[in-house]
Amino acid sequence: MSGFQQADFSYQGIRSDMDRLQQALAKSLQQGGHPLPDAPRRRILNLACGRADETGILIDVFGQDAQQLDILGADLRAPEIEEARARWKADPKNGLLTRFESGDGLQILDGLAPGEQFDVAFLRHQNFWNGNDLWQGMFDRSLHRLTDDGLLVITSYFDLEHRQACTALKRLGAVQIADYRNPDSRLISAKHQKSVDRHIAVFRKPPSP
Ligand SMILES: C[S@@+](CC[C@H](N)C(=O)[O-])C[C@H]1O[C@@H](n2cnc3c(N)ncnc32)[C@H](O)[C@@H]1O
Repeated sequence: MSGFQQADFSYQGIRSDMDRLQQALAKSLQQGGHPLPDAPRRRILNLACGRADETGILIDVFGQDAQQLDILGADLRAPEIEEARARWKADPKNGLLTRFESGDGLQILDGLAPGEQFDVAFLRHQNFWNGNDLWQGMFDRSLHRLTDDGLLVITSYFDLEHRQACTALKRLGAVQIADYRNPDSRLISAKHQKSVDRHIAVFRKPPSP
């Protein structure tokens, strides 16, 4: 885990979820076979990030070979964003810039500077079942904000919502390069077959015409 974390996690067990996420993410990216190109600066969008517990993983996985890493996290819930701000402060001397914004993700993305783009758009535990239009809007805007070589990564708690989200992304023209069923994901409900980071899918943006 990266040394940038300012405060411990609020719940026991998050650290082991993070270890499992890191391994599953590495396997998904390996399956995808499209490493991000070398770049001195890398930008990550973490949309609907909640407390953004996975920030350390994003730093470790996507920031290793970059001199500067910029992370924008956004979520509707202000208290969770406050917690993220306190835990993952920027450390410009070591090349880390973090920004966490509370509000509607669609509006936040629409309000970014026209040319602002990201090398990675990350949506952990997307909630497609809980509002198709909202999540399609999030996916669509994220794809538009992705660099040509960028990666859009989703994780899902449930099988059905994962399939729905992947279908929606493909309808938007995204090209799926990995679909990984995480065998080590922590079971939350056997009845509902819900588990932490149960699925990870990786997409590239639609090819330019
Ligand atoms: C299942 S939670 C996932 C949170 C976090 N990524 C995680 O894995 O712990 C879904 C998140 O979507 C956020 N959300 C729902 N509607 C949103 C919107 N319109 N804009 C931004 N975030 C939204 C919720 O506040 C919630 O934090």
